[in-house]
Amino acid sequence: MKIQYPARERLANLPTPLEPLPKISEQFSLPYGGPKIWIKRDDLTESAMSGNKLRKLEFIIAEARARGCNTLITCGGEQSNHCRATALAAAKAGLQSHLILRRGRGNSTDVPDGNLLVDYLAGAKVSLYPLREYLDTLPQLFEQWSEFYMQQGDRALCIPTGGSDSLGIWGYILGTEELLQDCANAGFQPDQLVCASGSGGTQAGLTLGCQLLEADTQVTGYAVCDSADYFVGKVSADVNDWARRYRQAFELDKRRIHVIDDYIGPGYGIATEEIYQTIALAAQLEGILLDPVYTGKAFHGMLQDIQRGQYTGCENLVFIHTGGQFGIFPQRTGFESSWSTG
Ligand SMILES: Cc1ncc(COP(=O)(O)O)c(C=O)c1O
Repeated sequence: MKIQYPARERLANLPTPLEPLPKISEQFSLPYGGPKIWIKRDDLTESAMSGNKLRKLEFIIAEARARGCNTLITCGGEQSNHCRATALAAAKAGLQSHLILRRGRGNSTDVPDGNLLVDYLAGAKVSLYPLREYLDTLPQLFEQWSEFYMQQGDRALCIPTGGSDSLGIWGYILGTEELLQDCANAGFQPDQLVCASGSGGTQAGLTLGCQLLEADTQVTGYAVCDSADYFVGKVSADVNDWARRYRQAFELDKRRIHVIDDYIGPGYGIATEEIYQTIALAAQLEGILLDPVYTGKAFHGMLQDIQRGQYTGCENLVFIHTGGQFGIFPQRTGFESSWSTG
C-alpha cells in the first residue's frame, strides 16, 4: 500500500541502522528456543535530539510551520527525553520552545543534570511544577502559556506528552515502513517488534504501520508506567483520532495491541538493580547503551520473557532502541555495582 504522508521537516538521519545482537542472542535467547534478536538504532536518529521523539517531531514541526506558529509548548517529567528533543529541534528550526515540567521524585537536584541541563543549553524556557500541581492543572497550564504567547504577538503549538497523538503517530508509520525495508534488505520478515511504551505513540505508530503495510508482525510494548489496559485504550484512541483527522477508512484490529506491564517495577523512572545490570550487560556484550527509564526496562522485560518461553516460535525479533541515554547520568549511583567491579 502506498501511504500518503503529510508535510514533514527533515531532522533525523534516516534510515537508522538495523543491527544484529549476536552475543545477547547466543547467550540469552537461542538456548531458550527464543528468536534471533536485532536492534533498530533509533537512538541514532541524531546525536543530541536522539531517539524516537525526533521521528514524531518531523511531522509536528511541519504542522507548526503550516499553522504559522513560532513557539512549541510541550510537557513531561523533569528528565523528559521528548522535551529535550523538542527544545533542540525547535532551536534548529528557528522556533522558541517552552517546557512545562513536572519535578522529579528521588533523582531531582538543584543542579540541572541529564536532559534538564540540555533543555537549558538549548535555550528552552523551562517552567518546573511540583508533581501535584502538574497533575491537577496541566490543561490549564497549557492554556495559560498559550495565552501568554498570544498576548505577546507570538503563536504557540501545544504538543501533548511524548508527542503522542494523531499527528505524532505518522513518525512511526514512516518508521515501520523503513524498518520493514531494512529487514527485507537483511533477508527476513520480522515476527516481532518490541518497544518501550511511555505515552504510547511509538507503539501506536508501529502497530498501525504494520496493519497498513499488511505485515504479519506482532508489536509488543513494554509499559514503563501505567497499566496494559491504559495503553490498549491510549493506542486505540490515537489510531481512531488519526483515522478521523486524516479521513482514513480504517479500523484497527484491537487484537494487534499487545502490552506487557509486568516490568514497571517500583514506578515510572525508578529502576531496580536488575535493570542496571541489564544495561551494563548490553554495554559490555554489544556496545549498546540503554537507559534506566525506558529502553533498559523494556529490554530487561523482553529477555526475561524470552527465557520464560513467551517468544517461542518467533524467529526474528527487532527491539526498537528509542534512545534516552541522557537519562543514565542522573541515575549514576544505581550503576555502582558495575563500576565497583570494574
Ligand atoms: C527513550 C524513550 N524510549 C521510549 C519512549 C516511549 O515512547 P512513547 O512515549 O512513544 O510510548 C520514550 C518516551 O516516552 C523515550 O523517551
